[in-house]
Amino acid sequence: LTGTKLGCSEGGCGACTVMVSKWDRSQSRIFSKQHLVCRHFSVNSCLAPVVSMHDCAVTTVEGIGSTKTKLHAVQERLWKFHGSQCGFCTPGIVMSMYALLRNNSSPKMPNIETCLQGNLCRCTGYRPILGGKEITFIQSFFILLMRNYSHNYNMGKRLISPQRPHKLFLWIFVRLPSQLNAKRCCNISLTPSERSTKPTIVRIATKLTTRHRSRYFPPELLVSSIISIVGYAALHILYAYRAVVHYITSRNHAATPLKFVGERVTWYRPTTLDQLTDLKEKYPDAQLVVGNTEIGIETGVKGRCHPLIVTPAAVEEISFVKNDQSGIEIGAACILSNLVQQLNKIVEEKEEHLTQPLSAILEMLHWFGGDQIRNVAVIGGNIMTASPISDLNPILMACCATATFMLHSRGTRKVTMNQSFFPGYRKTCAMKGEVLLSVRIPFMRKGEYMKAYMQSKRREDDIAIVNAALRVKFYHGSRKVEEFSAAFGGMAATSVMAKHLMENIIGRLWKDELIDDVAAWMREDFKLEQNAPGGMAEYREALALSFFFKFYIHVKDCLCKEGATKDEIASEEQCTKVPLGGNHPVSLSTQTWEEIPENQPKDNSVGRPLPHSSGQLHVTGEAKYLDDITPYADELYMCLVTSTRCHAYVRDVNLADAMTSPGYVTYVDHCDIPGSNECGVMKGDLVFANGKVTCVGQVIGAVIADTCAHAQRAAQLVKVTHEDIFPRILTIEDAIKHESFYKTLHINAGDAATALDASEYVIEGEMRIAGQEHFYLETQACLVVPQLESGQMEIYCSSQSPTSLQDDAASVLGIESNKVIVRVKRMGGGFGGKGTRYIVVSNPAVVAAKKCGRPIRCMLTRQEDMLISGQRHSFYAKYKVGFTKEGKLTSLVNNIYSNAGNSLDVSIPVMERALYHSGGCYRIPNIAIAGHVCKTNIPSNTAFRGFGAPQAMLIAEDWISGIAAKLGISAEKVREINMYKEGDSTYYGQVLESFNLPRCWQECYQKSNFNERKEKIEEYNSKNRWRKRGISCIPTKYGISFTEFFLNQAGALVQVYKDGSVLLTHGGTEMGQGLHTKMIQVASTCLGIPASRIHISSTSTETVPNTSPTAGSVGSDLNGMAIKEACEKIVGRIKPLRKNFPKLSWDDLIIKAYLERISLSATGFYKTPDIYCNWDQDSGECFGRPFDYFTYGAAVSEVEIDCLTGDHVVLQTDIVMDVGGSLNPAVDIGQIEGAFMQGYGMMMLEEPLINERGELLTRGPGAYKIPGFGDCPRRFNKYSLLKYENKKYQIFFRLQAVGEPPLFLSSSVFFAVKNAVASAWKHSGLFGSFRMDSPASCERIRMWCGDQFTK
Ligand SMILES: Cc1cc2nc3c(=O)[nH]c(=O)nc-3n(C[C@H](O)[C@H](O)[C@H](O)COP(=O)(O)OP(=O)(O)OC[C@H]3O[C@@H](n4cnc5c(N)ncnc54)[C@H](O)[C@@H]3O)c2cc1C
Ligand code: FES
Ligand code: FES
Repeated sequence: LTGTKLGCSEGGCGACTVMVSKWDRSQSRIFSKQHLVCRHFSVNSCLAPVVSMHDCAVTTVEGIGSTKTKLHAVQERLWKFHGSQCGFCTPGIVMSMYALLRNNSSPKMPNIETCLQGNLCRCTGYRPILGGKEITFIQSFFILLMRNYSHNYNMGKRLISPQRPHKLFLWIFVRLPSQLNAKRCCNISLTPSERSTKPTIVRIATKLTTRHRSRYFPPELLVSSIISIVGYAALHILYAYRAVVHYITSRNHAATPLKFVGERVTWYRPTTLDQLTDLKEKYPDAQLVVGNTEIGIETGVKGRCHPLIVTPAAVEEISFVKNDQSGIEIGAACILSNLVQQLNKIVEEKEEHLTQPLSAILEMLHWFGGDQIRNVAVIGGNIMTASPISDLNPILMACCATATFMLHSRGTRKVTMNQSFFPGYRKTCAMKGEVLLSVRIPFMRKGEYMKAYMQSKRREDDIAIVNAALRVKFYHGSRKVEEFSAAFGGMAATSVMAKHLMENIIGRLWKDELIDDVAAWMREDFKLEQNAPGGMAEYREALALSFFFKFYIHVKDCLCKEGATKDEIASEEQCTKVPLGGNHPVSLSTQTWEEIPENQPKDNSVGRPLPHSSGQLHVTGEAKYLDDITPYADELYMCLVTSTRCHAYVRDVNLADAMTSPGYVTYVDHCDIPGSNECGVMKGDLVFANGKVTCVGQVIGAVIADTCAHAQRAAQLVKVTHEDIFPRILTIEDAIKHESFYKTLHINAGDAATALDASEYVIEGEMRIAGQEHFYLETQACLVVPQLESGQMEIYCSSQSPTSLQDDAASVLGIESNKVIVRVKRMGGGFGGKGTRYIVVSNPAVVAAKKCGRPIRCMLTRQEDMLISGQRHSFYAKYKVGFTKEGKLTSLVNNIYSNAGNSLDVSIPVMERALYHSGGCYRIPNIAIAGHVCKTNIPSNTAFRGFGAPQAMLIAEDWISGIAAKLGISAEKVREINMYKEGDSTYYGQVLESFNLPRCWQECYQKSNFNERKEKIEEYNSKNRWRKRGISCIPTKYGISFTEFFLNQAGALVQVYKDGSVLLTHGGTEMGQGLHTKMIQVASTCLGIPASRIHISSTSTETVPNTSPTAGSVGSDLNGMAIKEACEKIVGRIKPLRKNFPKLSWDDLIIKAYLERISLSATGFYKTPDIYCNWDQDSGECFGRPFDYFTYGAAVSEVEIDCLTGDHVVLQTDIVMDVGGSLNPAVDIGQIEGAFMQGYGMMMLEEPLINERGELLTRGPGAYKIPGFGDCPRRFNKYSLLKYENKKYQIFFRLQAVGEPPLFLSSSVFFAVKNAVASAWKHSGLFGSFRMDSPASCERIRMWCGDQFTK
């Protein structure tokens, strides 16, 4: 089963989602409807220990639909609505939706949004998954699904009714015998003997399906198969039968305590409290694991081993939720999603004031992990982990909850959850051998109020930066404080209570004068050092205070409503009570594109929104990625050994422990390289470090072992002795200080210095732009297969540049390129990150394959990938701009710095593109830009969608907004005044022809209703103190062509077979961008046959040599033209035949051509004409036509910010993009949306952090947040520019490159936020310009807002 993917191993991406079905004993009422539907829930299989699946059914994506039979409706809609691009995230998304549907046949939009909280997608920008056209995808999808209930829609070919959700096709019972002894279960070895990196339960499921399908035919299916034969009359009897079978089996299993013994771990599953407490007392160091969402991270990601595990999951005595008159009691093993259901019921039944703590818990649980986490994690696990940022502990502390512990030999004891409950970091007051049984939450009394708050970097599935729970009780009928408790998370090493605040507030009146005093008390309580763990000291202090302020307003409002005071809250503060974004409609979206001319032949697929050519394979999990390639019998696995120091000599590598580790085969390093150790595009990288390392994560060697787990374990045991070298140059500031540069490039036009002196106005500014992690869902991966007979190496790799990989491998092996074949089927995303940095995996694997003479596979873990493989360059700029009093630009002097890291890689071309785009869309008569490429001790940074241009254009828009602030006019006005016009020349001499930008700008303005909305925003802002809105319109102009001119070439091979089918090969690689789909459309149009007759197998250096990387948005342009040429050759050859036989079908024509001995295969080649540039990078003289053309667009975004927390929401985005005559509008819109959301991540959310030792802190989705479903603009409209004129379009299907250009449009969100912050400034009495670095994280937004709470 290859469908389920491994994206992170830490529960943070959802790619591994499967559905688990389980008997729910706590609700076992045999003849009730509830009973008939057993509990189905989505689970992150990467965190689910296989033994925890005992007595469960696991359904993977393969189980619900297949291209061989029929797609499930979820799959079909996702495919048809273009919901997949690279497809790596897709099976997980399918399974989350499927699990939802199993439980709720008519889900509402909020259910759907909640069910997808735990899934990430880096390609699509989410909109096509969430919605389509006027009516949202989900609505239409479920409407369609409901209709389909009356048809045989499911794979199981059975009747489905809305009342009785359909049954699983693939029902894998993972039924493990109790008292399982050493290493065997169902003949499945529990040792890590699998080569695949798939989650264990999926691997086990694979074996079970192949071996045991018939033996474990589930009663569910048995019953349902018979149903279709005996008809409806038998249905009830059979369901009753099934229920009985279920009941009996589950009862039996419930009674069975289990013990599993694995290679390193023993797992106990007691079924009674007595057994559980007995075991814990006997083995006090044993971990009590239920959801494994804490322990699983320690073992899976951090490599720790807990040899003894006891699971309370089957102990019903501690899985309950009970309530009585005075409060509720929650069993420690109560699963969070069950808890949500139970609490909702109680909240509905009881009076509102009683259940305030429960409402607070429910609010927190909504944002707690994703569904997959809430479906397995328990409250006891959260309490006992004692995390300082636990979301539940502050609430439990603030409402004076009581925990009950039990020691087997002593019995129970009760402990109040206050400060002494958590004596230290990740410590509780539990005694050795004690088990937490339950926690009791008292109901609130009249006159008592409680609320909880939290702020995280990303709204969904993210841990809190700070959270708080506050409770106050007043003397009867007054507003004098009688009791007060305040507990905070994220303010210390434990959840803490604000002691000073709690003591001093007693007896005080709930009046505005209180606020200043509270601020002083809280400053006593929370004095965070600047370098406090977790950083953001000032922000966290401000947040804690802001939360109190929000609570103050809430309580004041309640008091007022209840008549305890007439002191109403000011109207401008009412906004704090409304959720961010208020009642703005959710997830609506419109797309418009040019209609296909009526007379266009049916077989001409150009302009048609064909779904992705691999779309069906994506949604069914049948698409094969690197790790899905069937293992070779003698295959070995490689795990890299990397440096832990950023600048050091490697004094010793000790292999003693690793060599004794199970499965160890050998170790490879620089001594094993037959050819050259130097590699990479600029030959500035090393395959293996040789005596010295220059960054943390540099590859020193690699352990080869029989399995993935063994290789990883052995690699951890390799001891490297380093000796530090100083200085450590990590940041751009360090590089400036130590003058550590690879190169400085200049570009000059006019006389910038003199013009600056002569300018009416000059502003100076600085801007810092953080780097960005690619976070392609499939990590870097490679399989090298040596062909011993010929000395040939066959390399399967997740790479955007097969030819460069081939060159490198040949040079490392010291052989000729004709002995190295590189194949790339598809990638699970690339975004530039696989353009060159695949070398960190491919070259060591090549060396290892040579040394071992056996196939070598390696797929980096998410944490390794993020550590090793480089990111988008961070930038820093210092500029001076001159302009007139009208805002017309006169001069720009700009110093731009990029952090290149420890090797040059593509950092020079990245800086070149940055320099070409430094002027944005504006005409600047005098310009002097210097681009400094900094050499530092961090992993080499590399290409990332946009390739330096987004950073440069962001800086340009920053000085535009500075000019606007200086002159007191709108930034849009400054943009309009300075925007290029048709026929203008850029500062590097390229004349702008067919300049469609002003049209995009105007259309975007009109379609978004910019002026009217701006007025409304001003009105809104004047009425609201703590919520501000902002709107911004941003243009983009992106140059299309590689600036390394030789790369602007492509080849293709078109082969027509005798039956008329066509095999197409070209130099481009498919990473989700729909290149193959578009190329099929080109060939289909050129040959005049349906797209279905054309197949692309994979990209290979064997078929098309000397290819350029698939990058720079030019894949379609270059390869499309090469394909066109090849097709035209074939069409030309058969033209005489066609003339003679005009009525012959294509197939007959081809067979005729074959019989006539006409060659039916042809190569095509294309090179971009007329591009050149004479650039003396030292003097700065630059003149030429470096770009074939430009892609233009404009976007308007409107945002709302919470000035008290820094949170924001994008209310609406409208994009107008000049995509020319789109080859495939669906693919292009997908690119626009995906690029926009990636840019949104770059500018609003994502920030890689390194510490002073050069170690990357943000490894994995837990620490590094890319946008999630909830970050999508609430309304997201895309329009393609219609009725354009462009000479360029006449050349090739009127195509425009669209992969990278839209990314920058997300800066409209950044500048809308800047406008909103400026409005908050005004409210605080501040005016003028302020510096805003990227990303505009919640921390920055809050601190920029600056008010009495940030001082
Ligand atoms: C992707 C992801 C997102 C997350 N999001 C959040 C979030 O938003 N907010 C948040 O607060 N946390 C979050 N967490 C952390 C985690 O999910 C919670 O702490 C969860 O409640 C832990 O429960 P569990 O059953 O998985 O714990 P486990 O990992 O099974 O166990 C955790 C610890 O609790 C101990 N323990 C469990 N039960 C008992 C008992 N009865 N008596 C004594 N000791 C016991 C175990 O010995 C172990 O040390 C997240 C985790 C992940 C992986
Ligand atoms: S959530 Fe399991 S692999 Fe990411
Ligand atoms: S399609 Fe979602 S990550 Fe690529």
